[in-house]
Amino acid sequence: MRPLVIVTRALPEPVETRLSALFETELNAGVASFDRRRLADALARADAIASNVGDRIDESLLAGAGPRLRLIANFGVGTDNIDLAAARAKGIAVTNTPGVLTDDTADLVMALILMTMRRLGEGERIVRGGRWRGWKPTDFLGRTLAGKTLGIVGMGRIGRAVAARATAFGMAVEYHNRAAVPDHPARYRPDLDAMLAEADVVSVNAPYGPATHHLIDARRLALMKAQAVLINAARGAIVDQEALIAALERGALAGAGLDVYPEEPNVDPRLVAMEQVVLLPHMGSATIETRTAMGMKMVENILAFSEGREPPDRVA
Ligand code: 8YV
Repeated sequence: MRPLVIVTRALPEPVETRLSALFETELNAGVASFDRRRLADALARADAIASNVGDRIDESLLAGAGPRLRLIANFGVGTDNIDLAAARAKGIAVTNTPGVLTDDTADLVMALILMTMRRLGEGERIVRGGRWRGWKPTDFLGRTLAGKTLGIVGMGRIGRAVAARATAFGMAVEYHNRAAVPDHPARYRPDLDAMLAEADVVSVNAPYGPATHHLIDARRLALMKAQAVLINAARGAIVDQEALIAALERGALAGAGLDVYPEEPNVDPRLVAMEQVVLLPHMGSATIETRTAMGMKMVENILAFSEGREPPDRVA
C-alpha cells in the first residue's frame, strides 16, 4: 500500500504531479490553509504531512497524531511552526528544505534594503496615486548604499548570500553570529549591541527559536542610530514589533523593511500607516524556480523516508 501524504496547501503543479505519482495523496485544491480541525484530521490519518509555515503543529495537535504518522515534511527552511521536541518524543520525523531558497531570499533582502534606503515604495505610491507634480532636486531623497555599514544578524546560508550582494553594492559588511564564519571577509562582531550601535542597515537573517525570540527588543532598537533602517525577512517574532513601532513613531529609527510578521497574515495598521516602512507579504522564496525546487526537495525527503532511507534534510 502506498503511503498517504496529506498536503496542507496547493503547491506548484510539477510538485503535485510528482507527489501524486509516488504516493497516495490528498492535495489541497482550495485557497484556504488548513484550520486546526483539518490539521488534526490530517495528523490522525496520514503517513506523512506536507506542511508549511502557516500550519502551527504544536504539542497538543501532535498528541492526537494517528499511529501511521511518521513524517512531517515542511515546505520551507524554517521549522518554527512545528514543536520539534514534541514530534521527537512521539517518534515523528521532521524535515525542511534548506539551500534552494538562499539566493531568492537574499535578493529580497537586498530589495528591501534598496526600497527603504531609496524610498522606492513612497515613490511608487506617489506615481500610482497620481500625486507626482514634476521633478525636483530635493524630492524623494534617500540614502546612498555604497560606503554604508550593513550589520547582518545571523550568518547562515542566507546571511552569507546577503553579505555577497551588499559587498557588490559597495557596503561594508559586518555580522553577528554564534561563532565567526571561518575565512569570511566580513567583520565578525561577537558583541551584537556594539554592531547595532554602529550599523546603518541591520538585516535579521537568523532562524527563529527561544534563543532569538525578541532578540531585537526595545533596548537593542534604542542602541541603533536614528538614521538606520532595520530589515527582517527571517521571522517576525525575532523583532519585538511593539518596540519597533514605538521606535519608528518617535523617529529613533529611520525606517524598516519587513517581509515577515509575528501574527501572519495580520499586519499592524500602525506599520501600514508609515511611509518609511516597506511591507511585503512573506515572499522571500516566492519564485517559480525556488518554490518548485522547495517542493521537489520536500518530495525527496518523503520518498527517502518511505523507502526506509535517512531523509536528506531531517531536523528532528
Ligand atoms: C516559505 C520561509 O515561503 O522557508 C522558509 O522558512 O519562510 C519561506 O521560504 C515558507 O516557509 C513556506 O512554508
